[in-house]
Order: sequence, then structure tokens, then C-alpha cells
Amino acid sequence: MPSTVVVGGFFGDEGKGKIISYLALKDNPSIIVRGGAGPNAGHTVKDGDKIYKIRMLPSGFLNKNSKVMIGPGVVVNPKVLLKEIKDFDVSNRAYVDKHCGVIEEKHLNEDSKGTLKEKIGSTGSGTGPANADRSLRTLQMAKDNESLSSYLEDVPKAINSALDSNENVLVEGTQGTHLSLWHGTYPFVTSKDVTASGICADIGLGPKRVDEVLVVFKSYVTRVGTGPMDNELTPEETAGKGWAEVGTVTGRQRRAAEFNFDLARRSVMLNSATQIAITKLDVLFPDCAQKTMYDELSDDAKSFISNIEANLNVPVTLIGTGPSIKDVIDRRK
Ligand code: IMP
Ligand code: MG
Repeated sequence: MPSTVVVGGFFGDEGKGKIISYLALKDNPSIIVRGGAGPNAGHTVKDGDKIYKIRMLPSGFLNKNSKVMIGPGVVVNPKVLLKEIKDFDVSNRAYVDKHCGVIEEKHLNEDSKGTLKEKIGSTGSGTGPANADRSLRTLQMAKDNESLSSYLEDVPKAINSALDSNENVLVEGTQGTHLSLWHGTYPFVTSKDVTASGICADIGLGPKRVDEVLVVFKSYVTRVGTGPMDNELTPEETAGKGWAEVGTVTGRQRRAAEFNFDLARRSVMLNSATQIAITKLDVLFPDCAQKTMYDELSDDAKSFISNIEANLNVPVTLIGTGPSIKDVIDRRK
């Protein structure tokens, strides 16, 4: 499968980082490319006892054979990006499209006050205000920012050439479908479309070049920030179920609810899902922790998965059973 697009099916934080790093190591893509909004995203990757928190680079960076790229639709905070390039030692294989927008100090300031902070509960990362300036055609571009000069690349050309040569390309989305500016719970959304189509536009991949669309759902729903959430549990109920989580970028407590089939069905439709990944199955069913074979799952866990397949009519191909990238059941042929 030369091109695989991975997106979130709920409100972000579905565990895409872990699924993407698994696929990066397993499928050995020549390029892992990030679309999505900007450094408002936070992915956590656990490899052995190392935990990486990542906001700008693709979370598949653990595969040292893969080039890691950021598509032109993404706004970049050079400080955050350069620190990740250094910390994760990827300076010889990290690339930023020359048309990426650049987040400046003023965007961070605008994002940490007023409507964006108080009403929308934005991450304060400057992503929304930078995207607003991009629409106004006043945003600085990566090619005009000296600190990024050694990482510039024509990302759409690089990925399309890789596909011409029949190499694997792994496309990483951020946030989740119901945070999309077009399709989410407006105005409580992020500043971009983050469905598969939007992510592909961000990186310059045309719709006919997409082979697989993998939509990632967590075994329960979480949401950080404001906005509607059906059947929301109280913080006490959330903690009681073992579902209490804090945001990677903001450190805020995430709100939680049970798996929501209406939201999931709509995500499958909006993204034209060909495969589904379910993460954190071990949180719902502790006896599934670290299992790597479907047959080893308990009957309750198996019916949870088959119920999802029956309701959504898409195969569940990957199942997360623990925080480490090794804790995955891979049911792909
Ligand atoms: P912004 O994208 O920082 O403007 O935030 C807008 C809304 O999207 C807020 O409710 C954020 O909490 C939420 N949001 C943005 N990025 C993420 C993410 O990566 N995971 C989860 N929620 C996010
Ligand atoms: Mg996150």
C-alpha cells in the first residue's frame, strides 16, 4: 500500500502518535509527512522506557530510514521545530516545505487571550492566529525565515516522486475529525480542516493517489477544551473508569465519554475510511494488556471490536493494547 493517510476520528488524542510510529517501523515508508494545523497538536510516543512528546515533527521519526517532512499547509513554530529536530537527532532527514507558514510571537500572544482562549479553549500555540494571517496573505513563509533555511524542501514534489517510484509514504494527520473547521462542532474547533481530504491538501497529495485511509478511534471519547460532548462523564466517573488523561500540549484534564457510534459513523463517511484503528483497548479490558494476537483477546474485548465493525462497516485492522509501540495487534493481510 504505497500511500496511507492516518487521521483522528473523534476530537484528537486518539493515539495517532503510537499507531503512526508502529506503521513507520513496520511498513518502512521512505517518507513520513505531516499535514494538519500546527504545533497545537501533541503526540506521545513510547518506545521501551523512552517517552517522546512531539508537536511539530511527524511522530514516525523513530524509523531512521524515513525522511520526515512537514507539508505546506502546516504552520510552523521554528523554535519548537528546531528543538525537536535537535532533541530527536533528525537534522539529516527533516524537511519543511518552503510554503509552510511561520508562527511569530504576536500569534502566540493573540492566542493566549480573548475569545480564542476563553471561549474556544485554544491551545495557545499561535496556530489559529497564524492561519488567520495566512488567509489575509500577511503570514511569513518558511522560505523567508533564516532559521529554517537548511531544512527547506518541495514536499509535494518529494512525496509524489516517491509514489512514482512505488515507495511507501505515510501521511500523518493531526487533531480529530470533529475538530475540523468545516465539519466539527463549530466554533469549538481548530483553525483548519483536519479530515483526510484536508490533510492531503496540506501536503499536496491529490485524491486519486490515496490508497488507504486509516481512521483512529480511542476505545472511549475524550475532548480537551470547550465545546459540546454527548454523554459526558463527570471527572469522578472518568477517574473511576481509569479514563483520566491530561493534554500533551496544554496539560489540561481531558473530558471523557463512552465510545460514540454517531460520531464514529460520521468520521468514517467524512474521511472515506478504508481501515479503522482502535487504541487503548487495554484501558477498557485490562486482561488485553500488551496482547499482540487477536485470538488472545477476551470474548468481551472481541465483541467490542466486532460490534464496531458491524456498526461502521469498515474493518478494524489495528488494535492498541498498551502504551508502547510494540503493543499492537495487526490484522492487516
Ligand atoms: P486551537 O487549535 O489551539 O485553536 O484550539 C481549538 C480547539 O481545538 C481547542 O478546544 C483545543 O483544545 C482543540 N485542539 C487543538 N489541537 C488539538 C489536539 O491536537 N488534540 C486535542 N485537542 C486539540
Ligand atoms: Mg494529542
